[in-house]
Amino acid sequence: MTDIIRRLAECYGPSGSEGAVRDLIRAEVEASGALKRKGCQAAVDALGNFSVLRKGSGGGKRVMLAAHMDEIGIVVSHVDEKGFLRFSNIGGVRPLNLTGSRVRFADGTVGVIGLEKLEEPGKVPGLERFYLDTGAKDKASVRVKVGDTACFFRPFEEVGGRLVSKAMDDRVGCAVLLQALRDLESSPHDVHFVFTVQEEVGLRGATTSGFGVDPEVAIAVDVTDTGDTPECFPMAMHLGKGPAIKVRDGGMLAHVGVKDWLVRTAEGAGIPFQLEVLDAGTTDAKAIQTSRAGVPVGCVSVPTRYLHTPSEMVDPDDVRNAARLIVAALSGPIAIG
Ligand code: CO
Ligand code: ZN
Repeated sequence: MTDIIRRLAECYGPSGSEGAVRDLIRAEVEASGALKRKGCQAAVDALGNFSVLRKGSGGGKRVMLAAHMDEIGIVVSHVDEKGFLRFSNIGGVRPLNLTGSRVRFADGTVGVIGLEKLEEPGKVPGLERFYLDTGAKDKASVRVKVGDTACFFRPFEEVGGRLVSKAMDDRVGCAVLLQALRDLESSPHDVHFVFTVQEEVGLRGATTSGFGVDPEVAIAVDVTDTGDTPECFPMAMHLGKGPAIKVRDGGMLAHVGVKDWLVRTAEGAGIPFQLEVLDAGTTDAKAIQTSRAGVPVGCVSVPTRYLHTPSEMVDPDDVRNAARLIVAALSGPIAIG
């Protein structure tokens, strides 16, 4: 799976500009042969969510799987006379480690993030104190303009046995859905594999696609924080110990029946897993849960270090096992009480 994770993670895709990610996913879906199955179809909705319906053998439920295509980024808000740019955030961009980071625009322009001289160097500044340097000598030679968006620019790396990239959140989730679509041999359920847009700016793609699909059960596949690095906030999730089955996060409580069903599935199939209790942050599952008259939802998370930095780190075995868990869960009946 490392190759598809790399290709997905290297795509340019800040929220609202998910086209390149969607094109790659569409090509992978076509190459998988999934659309040749009877009754299977792919569609893009008005917001840009890409969904693939895999018809079941009958007698099952309407299931929605969601993984978001977008990543965090920046948007240019001002260009000064010397050609330096000011920017605003797209999603959860944290100022702490920005200095010296690089971003890349859709046209390939690269910018280096710089920081003003601070009165109190020990205090973390707000985003308004940072600027972007695209190498332009003056305003007239700046190639990008106000409103243009960019995302972090760092090459994908294999480090030890781990994988590092700017956008593991949530391209690993997209990789899990693609793998599950390939590996799901028989299922009674009609499964909608939905690759959503604009998660990082407020779960917007999942809000509309959750309404459109109207699922009876839904599972989001996304990343989660870990508690296995020096002096970090104590949490039970560790890199390499399996996908995390969510109990709760900052925005939702997983449906207990869905959580238990996923736990039973993992235990029955011998798939390593962890339980996730996360304080801050949430996923597409939150938006789907409160769609229409309500949907029982759960979430399978890939433990990820250094979230929302240009160097998000995952263990490829966790990604593989997340896909195995989804496949095992959908291969039989769904009993969620
Ligand atoms: Co995120
Ligand atoms: Zn995410």
